[in-house]
Amino acid sequence: MSLAKRSRHGRTAGIPALLLAVLAVTTALAGGPAQAAEPLTLHELAAAQGKYVGSATDNPELSDAPYAAILGSEFGRITPGNSMKWDATEPQQGRFTFERGDAITDFARAHGQGVRGHTLVWHSQLPGWVAALPPEQVESAMTNHIAQVAGHYRGAVEAWDVVNEPFNEDGTFRAGPFLDAMGSDYIATALRAAHAADPDADLYINDYNTDGLGAKSDGMYRLVSELVAEGVPIDGVGFQSHLAVQYGFPEGMRQNLQRFADLGLDVAVTELDVRMQLPADPAKLATQAGYYQRVFEACLAVTRCEGVTVWDYTDKYSWVPGAFPGQGAATLYDENLLPKPVYGTVRTALGGDDGGGGGPGTLKAQYRTQDQATGDNQIKPVLNLVNTGDTPVDLSTVTVRYWFSGEAGAASYTTWCDWSPLGCGTVTHRVVAADTPKAGADHHLDVGFTGGTLAPGAATGDIQLRLNKTDWSNFDEADDYSRGTGTSYTDAPKIAVHIGGALAWGIEP
Ligand code: G3I
Repeated sequence: MSLAKRSRHGRTAGIPALLLAVLAVTTALAGGPAQAAEPLTLHELAAAQGKYVGSATDNPELSDAPYAAILGSEFGRITPGNSMKWDATEPQQGRFTFERGDAITDFARAHGQGVRGHTLVWHSQLPGWVAALPPEQVESAMTNHIAQVAGHYRGAVEAWDVVNEPFNEDGTFRAGPFLDAMGSDYIATALRAAHAADPDADLYINDYNTDGLGAKSDGMYRLVSELVAEGVPIDGVGFQSHLAVQYGFPEGMRQNLQRFADLGLDVAVTELDVRMQLPADPAKLATQAGYYQRVFEACLAVTRCEGVTVWDYTDKYSWVPGAFPGQGAATLYDENLLPKPVYGTVRTALGGDDGGGGGPGTLKAQYRTQDQATGDNQIKPVLNLVNTGDTPVDLSTVTVRYWFSGEAGAASYTTWCDWSPLGCGTVTHRVVAADTPKAGADHHLDVGFTGGTLAPGAATGDIQLRLNKTDWSNFDEADDYSRGTGTSYTDAPKIAVHIGGALAWGIEP
């Protein structure tokens, strides 16, 4: 378990003394004050790549202060697991209760989080009075429910799961009072009612076992293709991703998300967990970690994938053991609210370290700028490398890669090391044209070292770099992949660090 993770959540004894030792080494090497080494949260790592990481939650859990502290700090969106459902909001016809849902939106507001509203029309957790209505009254009951609930939460909810789980496993429509009364038109009617109630919310259809390619996701694809063609207000498709190690990983998940995105829709992973038959063992946990990694990688690979929500982040409150007796261990944190190794896997998939304890010889890159001018003729990144592992790193094996765009003008560059406590004589630097040029990333500044060792916990301190084109023409740094705007160090997942040729930190463009 990582030192930094536990120290962040404030539950590991003895950390201050260890930290002091780390800081002393850092200061000695860098010749100045230690740099902050607080790891980014899951959400911050995702946000650096334009995504969110969210969690489901429920009202009773919010009074668990340690739980709420992690929920409020680690996740950027929350989804009420139960309290915006029909049985919670309109238990009797026309009598609406919003207290529990309001507690969720209040929590989100207090913690700067977004909310996924869940869910307006679903066959489950539906009060008995709906199923007992004569068919000709179902449509008005449904549109009134949507108007009241989505209207109440207008402005507090980013996205709504307007219709939940409308499909059978074979891709046909699931029976229920809404299908019975209106045929499959109930879906378009629900979306139009939600749009009227909250024109700014993103409107989703959400289902499970649609994560990969197959009959059920084909059914979803046919439906949303028609809705888009007919101009029905739909913004996205949610993929619940309730996975289990014993059933295999959904085939073609990335391709599946992409085909929906290609219809012009957003996609999101809305309820991720990966359960297993208990007891857990190393093989099952390794399979589970691989599934989490692949889900996050799929979302990262699809531009229109907005983010990933886990269906509560801790085994303490997971729905799995209640619904599947004998199964569990499905989430990122254990029942004592400590992050499990799979949490580190997700961090790594998001381009971060694994939370501070990333094994032997792990480095992370931090960045600050000393140049706010984005249109002049020089680029001036300032880097700091931190050894977050527990063994020394041989700096001669390290290459740091800062990505930028060269624009028009000379294709040759001059590079400089202006200052480093390591001595600029030990710092090598050169510009390399990208093998696969991308917008904002057609060149990279490669920084290496002629030698030296970075001790566990130590930091290099400033490596002040500068580059220009040989014709001194201007850059446009605004879209440069690796550039940041902060003037003090923050972790930089868009700066890659290779050790011995293998990627040890960051995500390459
Ligand atoms: O609140 C009552 C409590 O008073 C009572 O003592 C207890 C006894 O059973 O039940 C409590 O209600 C439970 C409720 O969760 C709140 O904890 C229900 O029994 C239980 O069935 C319900 O389960 C929820 C489940 O949806 C119902 O289908 C889960 O918490 C919720 O996480 C789960 O979420 C669904 C998504 O909405 C849609 N996708 C699948 C996902 C997992 O099933």
